[in-house]
Amino acid sequence: MNGPAARLAVFISGRGSNLNALLNAAEQGDLPATIELVVASRPDAPGLAYATSRNIGTFIYNQTAPGAASQLLTALRQAHISHIALAGFLKLVPGEVVDNFPERIVNLHPALLPRYGGKGMYGHRVHRAVLASGDTESGVTVHLVDRKYDSGRIIAQERVPIVSGDTPESLAERIHDVEHRLYPAVIADWISSSRTVRT
Ligand code: GRF
Repeated sequence: MNGPAARLAVFISGRGSNLNALLNAAEQGDLPATIELVVASRPDAPGLAYATSRNIGTFIYNQTAPGAASQLLTALRQAHISHIALAGFLKLVPGEVVDNFPERIVNLHPALLPRYGGKGMYGHRVHRAVLASGDTESGVTVHLVDRKYDSGRIIAQERVPIVSGDTPESLAERIHDVEHRLYPAVIADWISSSRTVRT
């Protein structure tokens, strides 16, 4: 990779198991980046503990507060963030952040986009819809982030078969297992192939 090491921010809303997988990958030298900031859309997101226990900076993004988007952008700039990974972040990334990180934001989605995506399609809602459809497989998608939910260019997908007796919970668990392996690997490739690293 050319230029200085990438500086990654991870955005979460919930338990942060994918944040944990990314932190572990970084610590094991499997990510060509350091995780410099964790952004959460709620102050009580359990996953924030993964950041605070490692002394990684955190920022709470309160979408409804005046100036929230500008403050988020300032926090990203102050931490010299070059790349952003959404990991269970339930809010739309503000347009001014998307515009300042062109092709530098990825998202993880627990289904095979373009199906089962869009506003309100997250967590068990996705798995319930997949199971109700009678599909024989679901999966995991990693895609670039634009100004809409789940609509940017897909950069990786992996299929997860649906098995007899699957529930939203059992399917979610198998999908999480795939995510924890796939997301760090895809992010490593994506960062390595980004020729220009912003500082
Ligand atoms: C993951 O399943 C991801 O695909 C989706 O939100 C979930 C986050 O899980 N976008 P966790 O907070 O990383 O455990």
